[in-house]
Amino acid sequence: MKPALLVVALLGTGAAAAPPAWEGDALPTPLTATPGDPARGRALVAERRTSLCLLCHPAPIPGQQAGNLAPDLAGAGARWSAAQLRARIVDARRLNPATTMPPFHANEGLQRVGSAWQGRPVLEAQQVEDIVAWLQTLR
Ligand code: HEC
Repeated sequence: MKPALLVVALLGTGAAAAPPAWEGDALPTPLTATPGDPARGRALVAERRTSLCLLCHPAPIPGQQAGNLAPDLAGAGARWSAAQLRARIVDARRLNPATTMPPFHANEGLQRVGSAWQGRPVLEAQQVEDIVAWLQTLR
């Protein structure tokens, strides 16, 4: 294969993406160049089969039944910076190895990965940024 084609092939699989850069309990660099869209983030959280958030977290989304296994997402934007919120969604295990919160944008060290998720994160980078943008509005 010609080198240029190889580069295109690697980019196509996402294999060339740089791993997120951790600083303490935070991921200061957005995962995408496109800023997160809070309306899309809210819709993703409300659509529980994609994001799963509401299985565990109460959230200020009227009309939604939510679990009570984790802190209420109300006020999350006042408690945490965007960088801290991003970190918690990407891989909460880095902050609390015993957490029940699944790593939403990590591929290392996963066990019992459902076949639909094998080889790819639960949430795409843009979906993580959209949810971070929505959480930031919760003050
Ligand atoms: C299986 C349960 C579970 C799911 C699903 C889950 N979380 Fe969590 N989350 C937790 C738990 C438990 C904590 C408390 C801290 C810890 O144990 O890591 C937490 C902590 C957080 C925090 C910090 C809360 C605070 O204010 O202290 C945020 C923000 C958060 N989760 C967002 C999300 C979002 C957004 C989703 C969906 C994309 C999600 N979580 C899905 C269990 C879950």
